[in-house]
Amino acid sequence: MQIVNVKLPISLAEADALKPNDVPAHVEFRNVTKMYGAVAAVRDLSLTVGRGEFVTILGPSGSGKTTALMLLAGFVAPTQGDILIGGNSVAAVPSYRRDQGIVFQSYALFPHLTVGKNLEFPLEMRGIKAAERLPRVNRMLERVHLEDFGDRMPSQLSGGQQQRIALARALIADPPFLLLDEPLGALDRKLREQMQIEMKSLHQEFGITTICVTHDQEEALTLSDRIIVMRAGQIEQTDTPEALYDRPATAFVANFLGEANILDIHDFKVKSTVESQPGTVPMIRPERISIAALTDQKETDAEKRQYVTGRIKEMIYAGPLRKYHVRVGSGVLIVREHVATGQKVFKPGEEVRLDWLRSDVRFVAI
Ligand SMILES: Nc1ncnc2c1ncn2[C@@H]1O[C@H](COP(=O)(O)OP(=O)(O)OP(=O)(O)O)[C@@H](O)[C@H]1O
Ligand SMILES: [Mg+2]
Repeated sequence: MQIVNVKLPISLAEADALKPNDVPAHVEFRNVTKMYGAVAAVRDLSLTVGRGEFVTILGPSGSGKTTALMLLAGFVAPTQGDILIGGNSVAAVPSYRRDQGIVFQSYALFPHLTVGKNLEFPLEMRGIKAAERLPRVNRMLERVHLEDFGDRMPSQLSGGQQQRIALARALIADPPFLLLDEPLGALDRKLREQMQIEMKSLHQEFGITTICVTHDQEEALTLSDRIIVMRAGQIEQTDTPEALYDRPATAFVANFLGEANILDIHDFKVKSTVESQPGTVPMIRPERISIAALTDQKETDAEKRQYVTGRIKEMIYAGPLRKYHVRVGSGVLIVREHVATGQKVFKPGEEVRLDWLRSDVRFVAI
């Protein structure tokens, strides 16, 4: 982990004193490109992040997420374009003068310093007097529920505890924004979920503008006010988690954020409540499809719903969920059902009827 202390072109107080209409985006990328040789790690990237917003950059490996964060932190310089903080270009501001807390996936705490000294470090770097430092360290330790751990060495902490200290160290000097690169990547699932909740509540408490990079869709959905989906150095789509999941613009987003059934591979005509646009294909989420025995279900609501028949190929039990792969014509549809008492369980080979609301069909660009 690296902590970088910086002076902003304008102070937060100055920015806040501006009239609401004049308040610039906290962070802005303007047509930023970063070339590594012939490879554009980031290509013509334009985005704004509002003050206090929690934005997640989500994308597959190599899509340019870390590069975007490095550009903002000032560790790499754009080949083209400009980055603004509080409305002012930071092109000429070196990384050590950008005021931000950073947490990287390898939450490298200083191994030779106690937890307390680790937390004191950013305060010391900022020239905060010794008498003031200790109360701040103690307050921060309480906030991350590790008040008794100040004297331990990092090696004496669990992974989750180290992660919390890394976050605490990034936050302790009140940076105007927080940059997180796969902050929970090294933790097991249970701990990740716990830390997601803690990070969310820390964000609510501190109200700090946060830009988080992840390839974990669940993390992005849970934490963010807004998600930016990146693909090959460019923004594919950006929206709130719910809007992005419910109305993905492209097949890439639909598949990256959750599971998607692209319906054009099946031997039936898809009925929908909206007109399809050229270059798009119909898509439906697995949880929007109902499954029933052929004999159980009548086509009672054919105006609103679409009915197809199929044969169970596979049943996958996953605790609270059951997933079916159902062969329909020449394709396979994925159906996801919450496990409930008294529910019929279908076996491979069984014939079933699937149906869904026509209004649940989305058209995504390919
Ligand atoms: N220092 C570098 N030199 C050359 N190429 C680089 C460098 N850093 C990144 N790249 C290339 O730029 C592209 C984007 O890399 P980046 O690290 O931003 O991806 P990422 O989205 O963070 O991926 P991951 O999820 O694997 O961390 C990749 O093709 C990568 O190989
Ligand atoms: Mg990365």
